[in-house]
Amino acid sequence: MNMAKHARLAAVALLAIGAVAGCAKDDEGGTTEGGVALVKAGALTTCTHLPYAPFQSKDASGKVVGFDVALIDLVAKKLNVTQEIVDTPFEGIKSGADLNSGKCDVAAAGMTITDERKQVLDFSDPYFDATQALATQTGKEVKTLEELAGKRLGVQGGTTGEDYIKTQVKEKNLKIEVVSYKDLAALQQALATNQVVAAVNDLPVWNEYIKANPGKVVVAAGFDTGEQYGFAVKKGNAELLKTVNDALAAARSDGTYDKIYAEWIGEKPKA
Ligand code: ARG
Repeated sequence: MNMAKHARLAAVALLAIGAVAGCAKDDEGGTTEGGVALVKAGALTTCTHLPYAPFQSKDASGKVVGFDVALIDLVAKKLNVTQEIVDTPFEGIKSGADLNSGKCDVAAAGMTITDERKQVLDFSDPYFDATQALATQTGKEVKTLEELAGKRLGVQGGTTGEDYIKTQVKEKNLKIEVVSYKDLAALQQALATNQVVAAVNDLPVWNEYIKANPGKVVVAAGFDTGEQYGFAVKKGNAELLKTVNDALAAARSDGTYDKIYAEWIGEKPKA
């Protein structure tokens, strides 16, 4: 056998070993006592897109905390595992790609339930109501989208807020320059540094931002889009979906939901 052939055979052998090792690594999923399959044994792996306070953001120590985190912790507890959070772009979350590829078991990202997303994800029962809100710097309030003609309006890429604004601009033929930012932090930064004169996002995240940065920004207008947030699992993962819904129902009936609401959101809106 000549040297070249030797080298080729060695390479093939190495590839084969690599493939086997690769398999073993992919195969580290687990099943809980209750028969729920998990992508990683001993953990409930959650995909989210940071930051999105008060639903998910890093605290001073770098730990991811928030309303969604606390609710999914209840699901993990039911499964007797701990929650592990993966920060990943919103696009892969809402498209179902991350759940389909086994990056995570559940998506918890302040994500609105929409008909389009229902085609590619299975949503839990709704766990939070939200609307869209227009924020501006204090003293620079605008009440309507019409007033933004010729100006720059910021939105968060891939979100229902972006969809809402793009539809309004089209339907009403508004001459607004809509600028999409990759995450909430970039959008809020753009508003703070005058790159945009107004920014649209879900009302609760503006309320949180105003609490954290008093006096800087105001909610100048609201759009009652009647959105509801849902957690999502891979299409067809009925066992995990049931566990999520059971945990939510239990939390609502035993007062845990209200406690978590008070901790992360504040005073509960009157029913
Ligand atoms: N509720 C909006 C939507 O579903 C925004 C969600 C953004 N969430 C996040 N974690 N970045 O489109």
